[in-house]
This record gives sequence, C-alpha cells and structure tokens, in this order.
Amino acid sequence: MGILIQHGTVVNADSTIQADVLIEGEKIAAVGPDLPTAGHTLVDATGLLVMPGGIDVHTHLDMPFGGTTSADDYFTGTRAAAIGGTTTVIDFALQSRGHTLAEALKTWDKKAEGKAVIDYSLHMAITDLNPGGGKDFKTLDEMADMVARGITSFKLFMAYPDVLMIDDGLMFRVMQKAAELNGLILVHAENGAAIDVIVSQALEAGHTEPHWHALTRSAEAEAEATHRAIALAQMAGATVYIVHLSNADSLRELEAAQSRGLRAIAETCTQYLVLSREEQMPGKSFDEAKYVFTPPLREKKHQAPLWQALADGSLSVVSTDHCPFRFEDQKALGKNDFTKIPNGGPGIENRLQILWHYGVNAGLITPERFVELAAAAPARIFGMTTKGAIQPGKDADILLWDPAAEYTIEAATQAMNTDYSMFEGWKIKGNVAKVYSRGELVVDRNKFLGEAGRGKFLHRKANAGGLS
Ligand code: URP
Ligand code: ZN
Ligand code: ZN
Ligand code: ZN
Repeated sequence: MGILIQHGTVVNADSTIQADVLIEGEKIAAVGPDLPTAGHTLVDATGLLVMPGGIDVHTHLDMPFGGTTSADDYFTGTRAAAIGGTTTVIDFALQSRGHTLAEALKTWDKKAEGKAVIDYSLHMAITDLNPGGGKDFKTLDEMADMVARGITSFKLFMAYPDVLMIDDGLMFRVMQKAAELNGLILVHAENGAAIDVIVSQALEAGHTEPHWHALTRSAEAEAEATHRAIALAQMAGATVYIVHLSNADSLRELEAAQSRGLRAIAETCTQYLVLSREEQMPGKSFDEAKYVFTPPLREKKHQAPLWQALADGSLSVVSTDHCPFRFEDQKALGKNDFTKIPNGGPGIENRLQILWHYGVNAGLITPERFVELAAAAPARIFGMTTKGAIQPGKDADILLWDPAAEYTIEAATQAMNTDYSMFEGWKIKGNVAKVYSRGELVVDRNKFLGEAGRGKFLHRKANAGGLS
C-alpha cells in the first residue's frame, strides 16, 4: 500500500520530532510515532533526518545568455537538483524584446516538456512593456493572464542595459500591476547604467581579465539599486523580493527597509556564502572565469553578515542562481574580454551540502533554520501550498538526509553538465540518502532513479510573497 519511513528524525522549519512518515500515493498521509506497519513497504531511516525536499527558486536552465545557452537543460539540470536533494525548482522564462509573455511561456513550456524530473514552476522576466510597439503597454494586461496560469512572480532587471534592463518608470508600472494582482516582484538589483560606464572605462584602460568583471560591479552599485527597488515597490504598493543579494551594503538597505515595516524580502545564493574575491579571483589566470557571475564574488568580509542575516531572518531564502557554462568552450568566449564571458555558475546540485556543512555543522544555523531557508520559506513566499513541510496532506517530496555521510565534491562525478565545479575537492559532511518526489523514490545515495518528463508544472497562488 504505502511507504512507511520509520525511525527517522523529522525536521520541519518549526520543530524536530522522532516520528514515522507514511506516504500514500503522491501525498504524505501520516506523521507520528510508531505508525502501524501492516501492508506498507518499510524504509529504515535510523540515523537519518527526514526533511521536506529542497526548493531552489532561482535557476536558469537551457537559457540563452551571453551569446550561448546555459549548459544544463531541464533534464540534466533537474536531475542534478534531485541528486542534491532538491525536489522543486522555479526557473525563469525570459520575455524577448518585441515578443509577448505568452510567447515566452510557450518557449519555456517546450524546454521543460518531457524533460523535467522534479516539479517546477516559472517566474516571468519582463523586458518589454509594449512589444508590438506603440504606447499601449500590452504586457501589463498579459500579467493577469500569467497569474491565472499560476505564474505569480515577475522578474525585473536593473542591470544588463540594452539586453534585459528596463528603466525605473517601466519598472514602476510593472510593480503597480503586480500589486493589483497580488503578485510578487523579483529584482536583479544593480545599477546597470553606472556599471556600463565603469566597464567601458576598464576596457579602454586595457583591462580584459576575468577579475575585472568583479572590480567593475561594486557592492555600492548593488546597494544603490537594492534601495531604489525597495523604494519604488513601496511607492507602488508592491512586495519586492531581491534576488541574489551578495553583500553587506545591500543587506543594510534591506534591513533598514524591513525595520520600517516595508514589504521587502531577499535571498542570497550559496556562492556568496563560501566563495570570495580574494580566494577565487586574485587576478592571476583565465581560470577565474569559472567564477564570473553577477553579482560578482565579494570580499570575504561580506560572508559573516550574510550568515548572520540567514540566522536572524532578514534574509529569507538560499537559492543557487544556477546558470552553468562549460569552461572549455563557453567561458572561453571571453578569453580576451571579460565582458564576453557568459555570466553564471553551476550550483544546483550542491546547495544543500554547502548550506548544511558551512551553516549547520559550523553552528551558524540550526537544522530547522536549514529547512526554513531551503524549503519552507521558498514554498510560503512563492505560493506553493503543497510543498515545503513534512505534514499530512502535503506532497510527498521528502529528503532523507544523512548528517554523517562524507562526500567530496568533484566535477568528475557531479551530475551537472559542466566541466568544472566551483567547489572542486571540497569535503562535505552531510549528504543525501534518499529523495522522494511526489512519493516516488528518485534518488538513492547519488544514484538517480527518476525518469525524464515525470516532473509537473506547478500552478502557484498569488499571495504577495506570503507576508501578512
Ligand atoms: O551571472 C548570473 N547570475 N547569470 C544569470 C542571470 C542573472 O543575473 O541572474
Ligand atoms: Zn540576476
Ligand atoms: Zn538607503
Ligand atoms: Zn539569475
């Protein structure tokens, strides 16, 4: 009949208890001590933690960007996610300028179809308000259609002028519309216009190496845009979620807004917590292109405040911004010009390992907080009511986590479709034992058992970021 996970320690965002978990079909049917065993397949979880599967709300699978396409498609990307303990991703559909949101959605539906191995949803990135030309802002009307189709979050870029960036006025219009629809605004916060000037000046001065990517995009440029995004959202009555917040200056803007009661939420990403400009980007070789992503790596001094904010609650989520490119033939596009290095790094597989090892093992966050940051908060903020907790009635997206397992991260053995790892050779304690996706065992100790196309599109609720 069902699958009974016995003798484990069930960790939710608000509690840790010794309990069995019964899966029936795709759902969690019961959670409690010593559940009856008759007729069920028994799974012994002695010594393991039973947690909700991870939710990574920031990924870029099969995305055209920087003159190439991210190296993981919906199959390899979601498979790597599952192997790393993640059972849901929210990827970005990108509106092409001159085209509608409906067209973008169609394009991304096709990318996912027959490929996703775990459940997925989409944010819609808006880059053009009147794609047909003229002044009618057709895109604003389309936002309502998106919400009706379960796409309730809209991404805006304050960076990448001429490609993805939209100006403050257009951004403000989208925010007003999102407020009306009870949606959520996601912002890539960097002052793109100022950064473009600094980048041109660096190139004119003959600076072409990868670390100039980091040197030309300061924490100040991110903090300024963070402040502006929050202020505009406040004016529009919208809730804003700052993506990939990378540094202490931006964090101060966020915390100042939160202390005033403004509707501002933010995530950081794994890489900003454990990698630094000093260590990964000393300016010595083209190898450093492996760490060219945006926002760039910051100085090491920014890491402690980010961890503190994860523990305190001013940062709500840890995602990956997984946007993988191979070193050999993709990062290499920028061999003679750092602006031509495709921006992004591979991380979807390692998020929980890094957050556990450097967060929980280091005593910086509790296991409950780990669950909150990796699964419960993402589910709540993004309106995925069937996910994010080990509770009767929820989807049986279940992660059996072995806190004693030791593991070495290596590109040679990873599932992500890149020829390098950002964490090559790192020794991690704490790793995936088993992963269930809607009741189906899809991963057993590094072994992938799922099937392409079994993942379903998740229809999300518009809930303005789940804030009261
Ligand atoms: O470098 C990055 N992060 N690439 C993906 C696009 C973005 O800005 O999130
Ligand atoms: Zn971004
Ligand atoms: Zn300020
Ligand atoms: Zn991104």
